[in-house]
Amino acid sequence: GLDELTARFEATIAANERIEPRDWMPDGYRQTLIRQIAQHAHSEIIGMQPEANWITRAPSLLRKAILLAKVQDEAGHGLYLYAAAETLGVSRAELFELLHSRKQKYSSIFNYPTLTWADVGAIGWLVDGAAITNQVPLCRCSYGPYARAMIRICKEESFHQRQGFDILYRLSHGTPAQHEMAQDAVNRWWWPSLMMFGPPDDQSPHTAQSMAWGIKRFTNDELRQKFVDMIVPQAAVLGLTLPDPQLRWNPERGHYDFGPIDWSEFYRVIGGGGPCNEQRLRHRIEAYTAGAWVREAAAAYAAKHGQRTAA
Ligand code: ACO
Repeated sequence: GLDELTARFEATIAANERIEPRDWMPDGYRQTLIRQIAQHAHSEIIGMQPEANWITRAPSLLRKAILLAKVQDEAGHGLYLYAAAETLGVSRAELFELLHSRKQKYSSIFNYPTLTWADVGAIGWLVDGAAITNQVPLCRCSYGPYARAMIRICKEESFHQRQGFDILYRLSHGTPAQHEMAQDAVNRWWWPSLMMFGPPDDQSPHTAQSMAWGIKRFTNDELRQKFVDMIVPQAAVLGLTLPDPQLRWNPERGHYDFGPIDWSEFYRVIGGGGPCNEQRLRHRIEAYTAGAWVREAAAAYAAKHGQRTAA
């Protein structure tokens, strides 16, 4: 009966073992995973846009090849994540519909513009750095397909972070104008990167339950602190500063203290009012609509091929 199924599920979670697609799971667990994995997949797909903006303008052939590879990786991450979500009983078409109708979110961070080449560096260093901090623990998520998808994604994300660091290092140690461009990008991306981790724990409706289910392994505030502690020494190596006068080492806590985050900005951006929300979603819907013939042709080909094999 249901009690027995629930007990088996709880025991699997308690033993730190994996829940697999064919296992029974409570509906809340399934819905939470669909929400989180779909939001994650949408973020990878929408996240291609701010950087794609610079592919044609990258300053050298090498930088262009690297950026192309990176943006293609993000498409791949989106696809593994949609595939992981599909194991929970939703279709990719449904998930696209939920994104396009704004019923599901994607990360707040991708609603900011990429104004200069240094922004590509700042995205790699800060945004992908935040993504790794959040995603490495997801490799130990209690849901098998999500955890396994995260392993390869995290490897690729570390390459992305290094390429961002490398862009900023070169700019920071270049001409005064290049240094200033790098600093300006870091100033603009710093606070939005801290917001990527989600609202503070006492205002996060999902954290407690997701921790209990082993979906999240750390809270939003714990991950945000880990990220700050990792980035501050890297900023010193880059020769760049972070735009927070309250940032300082706290020997009692063994962590860096940082200033208050403007949560009204976060809620405005996830509510659709960020600088690029309209543009990002419009572009996504246009690309999806324009690609309809490719999906139709692929489906027709698969159907024809299937008939031949059957015959
Ligand atoms: N951007 C957009 N929405 C967010 C963000 C954010 N940065 N942070 C939190 N939210 C949303 C949550 O999805 C939730 O929305 P809902 O209740 O309307 O569905 C709401 O704000 C409340 O937040 P939490 O209770 O803290 O939600 P949750 O437990 O899901 O934690 C987190 C949020 C940390 C982002 C979690 O979902 C997660 O780890 N996701 C996987 C990583 C991910 O999506 N990364 C994408 C960006 S990285 C990249 O793509 C390069």
